[in-house]
Amino acid sequence: MKYAIETSNLTKQYSDFLAVDALNMKVRDKTIFGFLGPNGAGKTTTIKMLTCLILPTGGTANVAGYDVLKNPDEVRQQIGMVPQLVSLYADLTVKENVYLCADYYGLPTDLKESRAAELMEMVDIKYAENKMVKQLSGGMKQKASVVASLIHQPDILFLDEPTIGLDPTTKRVLWDLVEELNSDGRTIILCSHDMYEVELLCDDVGIINQGSLAAFDTPQGLKDTMINEIKEERSPINSNVSEALEKILEETDPENKKAIEYIRDSMGDNDLNLKELSVMINNKDEEMLNHLYSLPIVHDVTEHASGRITMDIDDEDDAITKVIADIIEYGGNITSIATKDPSLEEVFMRVTSKKT
Ligand SMILES: Nc1ncnc2c1ncn2[C@@H]1O[C@H](COP(=O)(O)OP(=O)(O)OP(=O)(O)O)[C@@H](O)[C@H]1O
Ligand SMILES: [Mg+2]
Repeated sequence: MKYAIETSNLTKQYSDFLAVDALNMKVRDKTIFGFLGPNGAGKTTTIKMLTCLILPTGGTANVAGYDVLKNPDEVRQQIGMVPQLVSLYADLTVKENVYLCADYYGLPTDLKESRAAELMEMVDIKYAENKMVKQLSGGMKQKASVVASLIHQPDILFLDEPTIGLDPTTKRVLWDLVEELNSDGRTIILCSHDMYEVELLCDDVGIINQGSLAAFDTPQGLKDTMINEIKEERSPINSNVSEALEKILEETDPENKKAIEYIRDSMGDNDLNLKELSVMINNKDEEMLNHLYSLPIVHDVTEHASGRITMDIDDEDDAITKVIADIIEYGGNITSIATKDPSLEEVFMRVTSKKT
Protein backbone atom coordinates (compact mmCIF):
# COMPACT_ATOMS: atom_id res chain seq x y z
CA MET A 1 0.00 0.00 0.00
CA LYS A 2 1.51 3.26 -1.12
CA TYR A 3 -0.89 5.63 0.57
CA ALA A 4 -2.35 5.18 4.04
CA ILE A 5 -4.95 7.80 3.21
CA GLU A 6 -6.29 9.03 -0.08
CA THR A 7 -9.21 11.43 -0.22
CA SER A 8 -11.19 12.15 -3.35
CA ASN A 9 -13.21 15.34 -3.37
CA LEU A 10 -13.93 14.83 0.31
CA THR A 11 -16.54 17.39 1.31
CA LYS A 12 -18.42 18.38 4.47
CA GLN A 13 -21.24 20.88 4.30
CA TYR A 14 -22.72 21.89 7.68
CA SER A 15 -26.16 23.30 6.77
CA ASP A 16 -25.06 26.62 5.23
CA PHE A 17 -21.34 26.31 5.96
CA LEU A 18 -18.83 24.50 3.76
CA ALA A 19 -16.22 23.22 6.24
CA VAL A 20 -14.29 20.92 3.87
CA ASP A 21 -14.34 21.74 0.19
CA ALA A 22 -13.68 18.82 -2.21
CA LEU A 23 -10.40 17.92 -0.56
CA ASN A 24 -7.91 15.79 -2.49
CA MET A 25 -4.99 14.72 -0.36
CA LYS A 26 -2.69 11.73 -0.05
CA VAL A 27 -0.79 10.59 2.99
CA ARG A 28 2.12 8.26 2.26
CA ASP A 29 2.10 4.99 4.13
CA LYS A 30 4.34 4.75 7.22
CA THR A 31 5.08 8.48 7.33
CA ILE A 32 4.34 11.19 9.87
CA PHE A 33 2.03 13.68 8.21
CA GLY A 34 1.55 17.17 9.64
CA PHE A 35 -1.93 18.53 9.06
CA LEU A 36 -1.83 22.29 9.50
CA GLY A 37 -4.23 25.16 9.06
CA PRO A 38 -5.66 28.16 10.87
CA ASN A 39 -8.44 27.78 13.47
CA GLY A 40 -11.61 26.72 11.72
CA ALA A 41 -9.80 25.61 8.52
CA GLY A 42 -11.41 22.16 8.58
CA LYS A 43 -8.73 19.91 10.10
CA THR A 44 -10.84 18.30 12.83
CA THR A 45 -13.78 17.96 10.45
CA THR A 46 -11.55 16.16 7.94
CA ILE A 47 -10.18 13.87 10.64
CA LYS A 48 -13.68 13.08 11.86
CA MET A 49 -14.63 11.97 8.34
CA LEU A 50 -11.46 9.90 7.99
CA THR A 51 -12.11 8.17 11.31
CA CYS A 52 -15.77 7.51 10.47
CA LEU A 53 -17.13 9.71 13.26
CA ILE A 54 -19.12 11.81 10.81
CA LEU A 55 -20.22 11.17 7.25
CA PRO A 56 -18.97 13.25 4.33
CA THR A 57 -21.65 15.14 2.40
CA GLY A 58 -19.67 14.61 -0.80
CA GLY A 59 -16.73 12.61 -2.13
CA THR A 60 -15.06 9.87 -0.13
CA ALA A 61 -11.75 8.68 1.26
CA ASN A 62 -9.71 5.54 1.41
CA VAL A 63 -8.15 4.83 4.79
CA ALA A 64 -5.78 1.87 5.20
CA GLY A 65 -7.14 0.54 1.92
CA TYR A 66 -10.82 0.74 2.94
CA ASP A 67 -13.48 3.18 1.82
CA VAL A 68 -14.90 5.22 4.71
CA LEU A 69 -18.38 5.04 3.21
CA LYS A 70 -18.43 1.37 2.17
CA ASN A 71 -16.29 -0.23 4.89
CA PRO A 72 -16.39 1.97 8.00
CA ASP A 73 -16.00 -1.03 10.37
CA GLU A 74 -12.80 -2.15 8.65
CA VAL A 75 -11.48 1.43 8.75
CA ARG A 76 -12.18 1.64 12.51
CA GLN A 77 -10.18 -1.56 13.12
CA GLN A 78 -7.10 -0.06 11.47
CA ILE A 79 -7.08 3.34 13.11
CA GLY A 80 -6.57 4.94 16.49
CA MET A 81 -7.58 8.45 17.40
CA VAL A 82 -6.57 10.94 20.06
CA PRO A 83 -9.26 13.61 19.71
CA GLN A 84 -8.79 17.36 20.15
CA LEU A 85 -10.97 17.19 23.25
CA VAL A 86 -10.29 14.13 25.36
CA SER A 87 -13.32 11.86 25.16
CA LEU A 88 -12.88 9.42 28.02
CA TYR A 89 -15.53 8.51 30.59
CA ALA A 90 -14.96 10.92 33.48
CA ASP A 91 -16.41 8.59 36.12
CA LEU A 92 -14.35 5.58 35.12
CA THR A 93 -10.69 5.04 36.03
CA VAL A 94 -7.86 5.24 33.52
CA LYS A 95 -7.60 1.46 33.43
CA GLU A 96 -11.35 0.98 33.04
CA ASN A 97 -11.38 3.41 30.11
CA VAL A 98 -8.48 1.62 28.43
CA TYR A 99 -10.10 -1.79 29.00
CA LEU A 100 -13.35 -0.51 27.56
CA CYS A 101 -11.55 0.41 24.36
CA ALA A 102 -9.83 -2.98 24.29
CA ASP A 103 -13.21 -4.70 24.68
CA TYR A 104 -14.61 -2.63 21.83
CA TYR A 105 -11.90 -4.10 19.60
CA GLY A 106 -12.46 -7.59 21.00
CA LEU A 107 -9.01 -8.07 22.56
CA PRO A 108 -8.64 -11.24 24.68
CA THR A 109 -8.20 -10.56 28.42
CA ASP A 110 -4.52 -11.48 28.74
CA LEU A 111 -3.54 -9.35 25.75
CA LYS A 112 -5.69 -6.50 27.01
CA GLU A 113 -3.99 -6.52 30.40
CA SER A 114 -0.44 -6.86 29.15
CA ARG A 115 -0.76 -4.21 26.47
CA ALA A 116 -2.54 -1.76 28.77
CA ALA A 117 0.20 -2.15 31.38
CA GLU A 118 2.95 -1.76 28.78
CA LEU A 119 1.43 1.34 27.20
CA MET A 120 0.70 2.96 30.55
CA GLU A 121 4.33 2.43 31.55
CA MET A 122 5.48 3.85 28.25
CA VAL A 123 3.72 7.21 28.67
CA ASP A 124 4.14 7.21 32.45
CA ILE A 125 0.52 7.12 33.57
CA LYS A 126 0.52 3.68 35.19
CA TYR A 127 0.86 5.25 38.65
CA ALA A 128 -2.58 6.80 38.15
CA GLU A 129 -4.31 3.81 36.54
CA ASN A 130 -6.89 3.54 39.32
CA LYS A 131 -7.76 7.24 39.41
CA MET A 132 -10.99 8.40 37.87
CA VAL A 133 -10.48 10.45 34.73
CA LYS A 134 -12.24 13.43 36.30
CA GLN A 135 -9.51 13.47 38.98
CA LEU A 136 -6.68 13.79 36.44
CA SER A 137 -4.79 16.87 35.26
CA GLY A 138 -5.07 17.90 31.61
CA GLY A 139 -1.76 16.30 30.67
CA MET A 140 -2.61 13.07 32.49
CA LYS A 141 -5.93 12.88 30.60
CA GLN A 142 -4.04 13.35 27.36
CA LYS A 143 -1.72 10.47 28.22
CA ALA A 144 -4.65 8.23 29.15
CA SER A 145 -6.26 9.13 25.84
CA VAL A 146 -3.11 8.13 23.97
CA VAL A 147 -3.04 4.75 25.72
CA ALA A 148 -6.71 4.12 24.90
CA SER A 149 -6.12 4.98 21.24
CA LEU A 150 -3.18 2.58 20.92
CA ILE A 151 -4.55 -0.45 22.74
CA HIS A 152 -5.52 -2.31 19.54
CA GLN A 153 -2.19 -1.49 17.82
CA PRO A 154 -3.66 0.49 14.94
CA ASP A 155 -1.73 0.96 11.70
CA ILE A 156 -2.84 4.56 11.41
CA LEU A 157 -2.92 6.95 14.32
CA PHE A 158 -4.70 10.31 14.26
CA LEU A 159 -3.50 12.86 16.79
CA ASP A 160 -5.54 16.07 16.90
CA GLU A 161 -3.35 18.64 18.68
CA PRO A 162 -2.06 16.03 21.14
CA THR A 163 0.55 18.14 22.93
CA ILE A 164 -1.58 21.17 23.65
CA GLY A 165 -1.24 22.08 27.32
CA LEU A 166 1.45 19.52 28.01
CA ASP A 167 4.53 20.52 29.99
CA PRO A 168 7.84 20.49 28.06
CA THR A 169 8.96 17.14 29.51
CA THR A 170 5.67 15.39 28.80
CA LYS A 171 5.67 16.87 25.31
CA ARG A 172 9.00 15.22 24.65
CA VAL A 173 7.70 11.89 25.95
CA LEU A 174 4.87 12.14 23.44
CA TRP A 175 7.19 13.16 20.58
CA ASP A 176 9.45 10.20 21.35
CA LEU A 177 6.41 7.95 21.41
CA VAL A 178 5.22 9.26 18.03
CA GLU A 179 8.65 8.59 16.51
CA GLU A 180 8.78 5.15 18.05
CA LEU A 181 5.32 4.26 16.75
CA ASN A 182 6.32 5.50 13.32
CA SER A 183 9.54 3.52 13.26
CA ASP A 184 7.41 0.48 14.12
CA GLY A 185 5.70 1.08 10.77
CA ARG A 186 2.68 3.12 11.76
CA THR A 187 1.37 6.11 9.85
CA ILE A 188 0.74 9.16 12.02
CA ILE A 189 -1.55 12.05 11.16
CA LEU A 190 -0.67 14.94 13.40
CA CYS A 191 -2.76 18.11 13.63
CA SER A 192 -0.76 20.81 15.27
CA HIS A 193 -0.25 24.54 15.60
CA ASP A 194 3.22 23.99 17.03
CA MET A 195 5.64 24.58 14.16
CA TYR A 196 8.60 23.31 16.14
CA GLU A 197 6.77 20.03 16.71
CA VAL A 198 5.81 19.77 13.04
CA GLU A 199 9.31 20.48 11.84
CA LEU A 200 10.77 18.00 14.31
CA LEU A 201 8.46 15.11 13.51
CA CYS A 202 6.80 15.39 10.11
CA ASP A 203 7.91 13.92 6.79
CA ASP A 204 5.18 15.70 4.83
CA VAL A 205 3.01 18.66 5.62
CA GLY A 206 -0.39 19.67 4.28
CA ILE A 207 -1.73 23.14 4.96
CA ILE A 208 -5.49 23.48 4.72
CA ASN A 209 -7.20 26.85 4.47
CA GLN A 210 -10.96 27.43 4.32
CA GLY A 211 -11.56 23.74 3.65
CA SER A 212 -9.11 23.46 0.74
CA LEU A 213 -5.56 22.22 0.54
CA ALA A 214 -3.39 25.32 0.14
CA ALA A 215 0.01 23.60 0.16
CA PHE A 216 1.48 20.12 0.39
CA ASP A 217 5.15 19.19 0.52
CA THR A 218 7.98 18.23 2.81
CA PRO A 219 8.83 20.96 5.34
CA GLN A 220 11.96 21.83 3.34
CA GLY A 221 9.99 21.71 0.07
CA LEU A 222 7.51 24.25 1.45
CA LYS A 223 10.36 26.56 2.38
CA ASP A 224 12.00 26.16 -1.03
CA THR A 225 8.72 27.04 -2.73
CA MET A 226 8.44 30.15 -0.61
CA ILE A 227 12.02 31.16 -1.40
CA ASN A 228 11.36 30.71 -5.12
CA GLU A 229 8.17 32.73 -4.96
CA ILE A 230 9.92 35.51 -3.08
CA LYS A 231 12.77 35.45 -5.57
CA GLU A 232 10.35 35.80 -8.46
CA GLU A 233 8.58 38.69 -6.81
CA ARG A 234 11.90 40.34 -6.21
CA SER A 235 13.77 39.42 -9.38
CA PRO A 236 14.26 43.06 -10.45
CA ILE A 237 15.68 43.75 -7.01
CA ASN A 238 17.94 40.71 -7.21
CA SER A 239 19.45 41.75 -10.50
CA ASN A 240 20.27 45.14 -9.03
CA VAL A 241 21.82 43.40 -6.06
CA SER A 242 23.94 41.27 -8.42
CA GLU A 243 25.26 44.34 -10.16
CA ALA A 244 26.02 46.08 -6.90
CA LEU A 245 27.81 42.98 -5.58
CA GLU A 246 29.96 42.78 -8.71
CA LYS A 247 30.94 46.37 -8.15
CA ILE A 248 31.86 45.74 -4.53
CA LEU A 249 33.85 42.67 -5.61
CA GLU A 250 35.87 44.75 -8.06
CA GLU A 251 36.72 47.31 -5.47
CA THR A 252 37.16 45.30 -2.29
CA ASP A 253 40.39 43.82 -0.98
CA PRO A 254 40.86 40.04 -1.26
CA GLU A 255 39.95 39.33 2.39
CA ASN A 256 36.30 40.21 1.79
CA LYS A 257 36.05 38.52 -1.56
CA LYS A 258 35.11 35.04 -0.42
CA ALA A 259 32.11 36.12 1.60
CA ILE A 260 30.78 38.40 -1.08
CA GLU A 261 31.28 35.77 -3.75
CA TYR A 262 29.24 33.43 -1.56
CA ILE A 263 26.33 35.85 -1.50
CA ARG A 264 26.57 36.43 -5.24
CA ASP A 265 26.71 32.70 -5.96
CA SER A 266 23.88 31.79 -3.63
CA MET A 267 21.71 34.26 -5.49
CA GLY A 268 21.95 31.92 -8.44
CA ASP A 269 20.67 29.05 -6.29
CA ASN A 270 17.37 28.83 -4.55
CA ASP A 271 18.57 29.44 -1.07
CA LEU A 272 18.67 33.16 -0.78
CA ASN A 273 16.35 34.89 1.57
CA LEU A 274 17.32 38.51 1.71
CA LYS A 275 15.50 39.10 4.95
CA GLU A 276 17.94 37.76 7.45
CA LEU A 277 21.69 38.08 7.38
CA SER A 278 24.26 36.46 9.62
CA VAL A 279 27.89 37.62 9.36
CA MET A 280 31.23 37.03 11.03
CA ILE A 281 33.30 40.18 10.91
CA ASN A 282 36.93 40.62 11.85
CA ASN A 283 38.09 44.02 13.05
CA LYS A 284 34.64 45.09 14.12
CA ASP A 285 34.50 47.98 16.53
CA GLU A 286 31.88 49.97 18.35
CA GLU A 287 31.76 52.63 15.69
CA MET A 288 30.88 50.09 13.01
CA LEU A 289 28.25 48.42 15.18
CA ASN A 290 26.69 51.75 16.10
CA HIS A 291 26.53 52.57 12.44
CA LEU A 292 24.74 49.26 11.71
CA TYR A 293 22.30 49.91 14.55
CA SER A 294 21.57 53.33 13.13
CA LEU A 295 20.78 52.19 9.59
CA PRO A 296 17.03 52.46 8.97
CA ILE A 297 17.08 49.38 6.68
CA VAL A 298 18.56 47.21 9.43
CA HIS A 299 16.63 45.86 12.42
CA ASP A 300 17.23 43.60 15.38
CA VAL A 301 21.01 43.60 15.19
CA THR A 302 22.23 40.97 17.66
CA GLU A 303 25.80 40.36 18.61
CA HIS A 304 26.22 36.72 19.68
CA ALA A 305 28.80 35.41 22.11
CA SER A 306 30.48 33.63 19.18
CA GLY A 307 31.16 36.99 17.55
CA ARG A 308 28.53 36.40 14.90
CA ILE A 309 26.20 39.24 14.12
CA THR A 310 22.69 38.60 12.92
CA MET A 311 20.26 41.18 11.64
CA ASP A 312 17.05 41.60 9.73
CA ILE A 313 17.24 43.64 6.59
CA ASP A 314 14.41 45.46 4.84
CA ASP A 315 13.10 44.13 1.53
CA GLU A 316 14.57 47.10 -0.23
CA ASP A 317 16.50 47.51 -3.42
CA ASP A 318 20.20 46.71 -2.74
CA ALA A 319 19.76 46.94 1.05
CA ILE A 320 21.98 43.90 1.50
CA THR A 321 24.80 45.35 -0.58
CA LYS A 322 24.55 48.63 1.30
CA VAL A 323 25.09 46.74 4.56
CA ILE A 324 28.08 44.83 3.17
CA ALA A 325 29.60 47.95 1.66
CA ASP A 326 29.23 49.80 4.96
CA ILE A 327 30.85 47.02 6.98
CA ILE A 328 33.81 47.12 4.60
CA GLU A 329 33.93 50.90 4.68
CA TYR A 330 34.23 50.79 8.46
CA GLY A 331 37.26 48.55 8.13
CA GLY A 332 35.58 45.17 8.73
CA ASN A 333 36.60 41.90 7.09
CA ILE A 334 33.69 39.61 6.47
CA THR A 335 34.93 36.08 7.09
CA SER A 336 31.65 34.27 6.69
CA ILE A 337 28.18 35.23 5.66
CA ALA A 338 24.92 33.36 5.52
CA THR A 339 21.30 34.00 4.83
CA LYS A 340 18.56 32.08 6.56
CA ASP A 341 15.74 29.91 5.27
CA PRO A 342 12.26 31.10 6.09
CA SER A 343 10.75 29.30 9.05
CA LEU A 344 7.80 26.94 8.73
CA GLU A 345 5.81 29.56 10.61
CA GLU A 346 6.57 32.11 7.89
CA VAL A 347 5.50 29.57 5.26
CA PHE A 348 2.28 28.94 7.18
CA MET A 349 1.48 32.65 7.42
CA ARG A 350 2.20 33.21 3.76
CA VAL A 351 0.21 30.22 2.50
CA THR A 352 -2.80 30.89 4.69
CA SER A 353 -2.91 34.61 3.99
CA LYS A 354 -3.38 34.05 0.26
CA LYS A 355 -6.92 34.53 -0.93
CA THR A 356 -8.54 31.31 -2.11
N1 LIG B 1 -21.10 20.49 13.92
C1 LIG B 1 -20.85 21.62 13.26
N2 LIG B 1 -21.85 22.37 12.75
C2 LIG B 1 -21.60 23.51 12.06
N3 LIG B 1 -20.35 23.97 11.80
C3 LIG B 1 -19.32 23.26 12.26
C4 LIG B 1 -19.50 22.06 13.03
N4 LIG B 1 -18.28 21.56 13.35
C5 LIG B 1 -17.39 22.43 12.83
N5 LIG B 1 -18.00 23.44 12.19
C6 LIG B 1 -17.34 24.55 11.48
O1 LIG B 1 -16.49 24.02 10.49
C7 LIG B 1 -15.30 24.80 10.41
C8 LIG B 1 -14.09 23.88 10.55
O2 LIG B 1 -14.02 23.43 11.89
P1 LIG B 1 -12.88 22.44 12.38
O3 LIG B 1 -13.19 22.05 13.76
O4 LIG B 1 -12.74 21.36 11.37
O5 LIG B 1 -11.60 23.41 12.32
P2 LIG B 1 -10.09 23.09 12.70
O6 LIG B 1 -9.29 23.28 11.46
O7 LIG B 1 -9.97 21.81 13.39
O8 LIG B 1 -9.76 24.31 13.69
P3 LIG B 1 -8.91 24.36 15.07
O9 LIG B 1 -7.51 24.63 14.67
O10 LIG B 1 -9.52 25.56 15.76
O11 LIG B 1 -9.11 23.10 15.82
C9 LIG B 1 -15.40 25.87 11.48
O12 LIG B 1 -15.80 27.08 10.88
C10 LIG B 1 -16.46 25.35 12.42
O13 LIG B 1 -17.19 26.41 13.00
MG1 LIG C 1 -9.47 21.22 15.29
